[in-house]
Amino acid sequence: MNDKTWFQAFSENMNVIFTDEDFQTYLADIESCIDFYIKHLGENTKILDLGCGLGTGSIPLSTFGYKITGIDNDMKVVEAARTNAEKFGKDVQIIHGDVFDIDKMFESDSFDACISGGLLEHFPESQIHELIRKQLVVAPKLIAYMPIASYPGEKWDDGIYRNLWDEKYWLEDILVEFNVIHHSTARAMEAIGGFLELEVVIDR
Ligand SMILES: C[S@@+](CC[C@H](N)C(=O)[O-])C[C@H]1O[C@@H](n2cnc3c(N)ncnc32)[C@H](O)[C@@H]1O
Repeated sequence: MNDKTWFQAFSENMNVIFTDEDFQTYLADIESCIDFYIKHLGENTKILDLGCGLGTGSIPLSTFGYKITGIDNDMKVVEAARTNAEKFGKDVQIIHGDVFDIDKMFESDSFDACISGGLLEHFPESQIHELIRKQLVVAPKLIAYMPIASYPGEKWDDGIYRNLWDEKYWLEDILVEFNVIHHSTARAMEAIGGFLELEVVIDR
């Protein structure tokens, strides 16, 4: 479905191994919303980051006391994320695996929450539902971020398949069967593209 691997896509746009300066940028972004994380994740809790990528979100989050397990199915991405975690993380484990196997890899309630950024939009609706249900087995709550269309018909020609739906479609159609306890939109940090994204918190 994709013309390129995720490792290739990351390599074209950012340093796959974070410099000190990169990490400070990612850390500042997490720091700016740490109150939101504490409200929804609690403190010092166990978090599963699905499609963790290079660790731009979860590695800084680990420095605030969260115990992070990241999972990604691109081995080169996993290797880079492990290096980043070693350099900058606190309690971070990066696993090579498919997010659709989390219900086989982990027992029910193995985590306090799941997080995912830039993941759900890459799958068709039925698989999004499946993936949300699986997350709500391994944890009672999830936080998800997905890019949304800023204008009707917007497309990104970057060789990666994704659904660029608007906020209304996500909330009133795709996620309507789930218990969405919070949603808001904001711009992602410039360092990862500055796109408009929807943030949702879903509870069991
Ligand atoms: C847009 S990137 C997001 C990376 C990271 N969450 C972030 O916000 O910077 C999507 C990531 O999901 C991973 N991914 C896609 N499908 C996956 C699957 N079925 N299982 C595990 N990881 C997957 C890709 O390898 C990629 O690293």
